[in-house]
Amino acid sequence: MPKIEILGQAEFDVAPGTNLLTFLQNQGYDTKLPASCDGEGMCSTCAARVVSGGGTPNANEVDVLSEEQIDNDWRLTCQVKVEEDTQILVPGYEPPEPIDIEADELSGILNYVIANLSLREIDSKQGVTPNRLRDLSLRASSVTAGDVEANDFALLIDVFTHVVHTPAALTAIEQEFSFDEERLRSLLRAFEDRLPPEEEEVLMYPYYMYIVASVGFFLLVALSAYSLMVDAPLEEAATPSFTPNPEKAPWYFLGIQELLAISPNLGGPLTSVAVGGVIIPGVFVFLLVAMPYVERYLEFWRPDKSSPPGPRLRDRPVTATLFFILMAAMIILIIIGVYFRGPGWEWVTPWQ
Ligand code: FES
Repeated sequence: MPKIEILGQAEFDVAPGTNLLTFLQNQGYDTKLPASCDGEGMCSTCAARVVSGGGTPNANEVDVLSEEQIDNDWRLTCQVKVEEDTQILVPGYEPPEPIDIEADELSGILNYVIANLSLREIDSKQGVTPNRLRDLSLRASSVTAGDVEANDFALLIDVFTHVVHTPAALTAIEQEFSFDEERLRSLLRAFEDRLPPEEEEVLMYPYYMYIVASVGFFLLVALSAYSLMVDAPLEEAATPSFTPNPEKAPWYFLGIQELLAISPNLGGPLTSVAVGGVIIPGVFVFLLVAMPYVERYLEFWRPDKSSPPGPRLRDRPVTATLFFILMAAMIILIIIGVYFRGPGWEWVTPWQ
């Protein structure tokens, strides 16, 4: 009976002629293999690396996979019939990268970091303190054996990421410990492989709804309290025969009203109303919606694109700048509309 070994996972005896994709699906190893064409050999979404066994690629595989992929043992699992012992690396279930560092080397690097780097600059969700790093340095042999908690690996990731991204620290570590950047990065990958898999699904209900409902509730309470304390007198009753001059929209629409007033009439259908009331606000909304999608193409400023940008403003300067410009323009237009426009929509000063 042939065996299938999923490297880093488990080994199974299977009947000769077993279809590899069907086997992986039955065993639950297909989370990263959507197999979109249902085993027709046309889509390549069932591809995995068959490192031994598996016979030779058939015509479908030669058609769908590139030469380089075939040279690197990639196969369409839906096309592979297992007739002999087969070893396979399944996407999403690859064995973790080995931790390629000696305990005393790791200990030395951590002690160097404590003594020479500003720990406050290390971006981490945990507190990076000398004591915490000293503790890890004392347990370096457990780290190299992969026998520490996930939060220890997370801390090491933060520290090594900081080193890799800080040229001075990187050069110093390279010189002190004969550790080049490539080895540091493979160490980082090894630590990352030992973190528990991230939740792929974030439930909107109840977690997100709880936050939204809480914010809504506190806003309601705050506004109710404010409205009880502060008088908000109405203007006199409106009469159809009298149009106030200037007639101003509520403050939150005054930006648009001001935009209409200053927009040029470009002739034809591009009247000032079309330009200020439709085209410019339309572009504004379009840019807001498009920003997250466009940003990835504007990342020329990021030296390291191997990880996605972080959630803070400084991690996303293009989006942050564009958003700031749009919001600032809107606020300035509102302020002009509220304080600097008088009868006939002429310029006035607030103290006139
Ligand atoms: S499932 Fe589409 S190629 Fe295998």
